[in-house]
Amino acid sequence: MDFKIEVNNNLISVHEGETLLSALWRNGFKVPTLCHMNHFSPTGACRLCAVEVEGKRDLITSCSYPVEKNMKVKTNSPRVIKARKALVELLLSNHPDDCLYCQRNGNCELQWLAEEMNVKERKFFGEKNPDYPDHSSTSVFRDPGKCVLCSRCVRMCEEVQKVTAIDFISRANQTKVNSAFHKGLNVSSCINCGQCIMVCPTAALLDISHIEKVQAALDSGKKEVLFFISPSTAASVAEQVGIKSQQDIAGIINAALKKCGADKVFNLGFACDINVLEESAILNDHMAKNLAMPLLSSCCPAWVQYVEEFRPEWLPFLAPSKSPQQIMGTLLKTHYSEKQKLNPAGVFSVAVMPCVGKKFEASREEMTRQGISGVDAVLTVRELFRFLRTFGIDLKSLAPLQVDEPFEKASAAAWKMGYSGGKAEAVALELYKMNNKGSQDGFKFSVSKNLAGKKETKIKSGKQQFGFAWTSGIEEADSYLQQIIEDNRTDIHYVEVMGCPGGCAGGGGQPISRNPEKPKNRKRLCQEMEKNAHFLSAGENLAVMDLYMGKDAAPGSEKTGEWYHTHFRKREVLK
Ligand code: SF4
Ligand code: SF4
Ligand code: FES
Repeated sequence: MDFKIEVNNNLISVHEGETLLSALWRNGFKVPTLCHMNHFSPTGACRLCAVEVEGKRDLITSCSYPVEKNMKVKTNSPRVIKARKALVELLLSNHPDDCLYCQRNGNCELQWLAEEMNVKERKFFGEKNPDYPDHSSTSVFRDPGKCVLCSRCVRMCEEVQKVTAIDFISRANQTKVNSAFHKGLNVSSCINCGQCIMVCPTAALLDISHIEKVQAALDSGKKEVLFFISPSTAASVAEQVGIKSQQDIAGIINAALKKCGADKVFNLGFACDINVLEESAILNDHMAKNLAMPLLSSCCPAWVQYVEEFRPEWLPFLAPSKSPQQIMGTLLKTHYSEKQKLNPAGVFSVAVMPCVGKKFEASREEMTRQGISGVDAVLTVRELFRFLRTFGIDLKSLAPLQVDEPFEKASAAAWKMGYSGGKAEAVALELYKMNNKGSQDGFKFSVSKNLAGKKETKIKSGKQQFGFAWTSGIEEADSYLQQIIEDNRTDIHYVEVMGCPGGCAGGGGQPISRNPEKPKNRKRLCQEMEKNAHFLSAGENLAVMDLYMGKDAAPGSEKTGEWYHTHFRKREVLK
């Protein structure tokens, strides 16, 4: 039921049961927040959302207070403004004064708050956080000195990712965020998803940067520097720069990277097609031989690491296929190097991805052959922008340059891998074709939901019926899988799991923004771009099929196993 309340002498309509903050925001009254996160229970930790309510002695925190009939609210009374300003001044009291050199300069919520509150000087001088920055992780950098204790990372890690690699320690003015036993993130249970980076308002959490090693490889003059760009990266670039989805975005990124000195720029979509073909062949095999079911996708490194650390009993369910990134890395250091008469040790391969966990994946021991890594550096989308800025490149002004052969073309499946549910559809299509004499006529993949609201669908091929499901965010994936195991369900044959909410469109390496619409927009862009893909399905990618034929092999075959397959193992970490 709706009713009216008074805000700054205006009557606004509110929904019974909603918080005052939600009502204020919906009606265009901007109230600052720091600890608040949409869809999370309020903690009242920062108090920046304080407002004055007639009849209440103290200011109330609007993010945790429900609307009440006859309420009269002042969002910007002198008392409110004074209180908010004092809170920001306190936050700044122990914050380093290095905005000029800070990576979040210009995209820092603390800076915005200080500017909004008209803070002109450091009023209080607090004791600086004595903890050292933590560089130990392959993917995530922590600088405790910049932490404002908003708790957003802690809640993300615990409630959405079910990991709790970081938590509050000590009390009162000694309170800090840290990993288990004050050890580095590298030995913690962190799965490198990067979701904590996405919600941190300051530079307390960042990528472990690979820009410097890419730059060094380019400057060396001795390395053949080969970039490959994931389709979802192209979608994010289109979104960020405002390039139209009909334009050749991969071609524009290629032109930009060539200006930076790249020798070749390839389309990672090529390896996405291989990954889809491999997983559908493995699924077919699991069904034919009655092996572990449902088959779980394994292209998301955070999800794989979660299984290795928290659910080793599920390892037999993980598809033993390499991710597209690692397939491409392997191809560059083997097949491509051989054809181009290059020494693999002189090839430097750079993946550009929407994911920080890919840095961890590239560093895995299993991804190295004779001491040579398949992938030498991984730039997140955020790093790509920073890298291009150092060269003064304006993406909008560049004419596209066709992505380099032989890995230039990809099917719609590659774009589908950019969002939750897309890969399940691409694998389902290949399985359907396998059971339908290679034809995709009659294939239908309609989204339905089971009783718990989880996304599942059934496809029919001849007399057979296959069940597919998809889930994103680790907590959601874990609870869904536990449920289907408990219920002994045999009707679900394949589950696509993406560690980040919404899939790679919401990946931990994407540009940081508080706008919840961004991942949905990136998904929409991927869906638009898949309409212009070179092929409809992964199996139609002729160059991919040529590679199989060159080895006299079919998808899923042992003959291409050294290129396309890997193994996963139980991982002991501090919890
Ligand atoms: S990267 Fe993911 S798992 Fe690691 S601390 Fe951040 S949210 Fe937690
Ligand atoms: S590290 Fe960032 S997100 Fe986490 S509590 Fe500190 S400021 Fe908040
Ligand atoms: S946003 Fe309301 S207390 Fe922090």
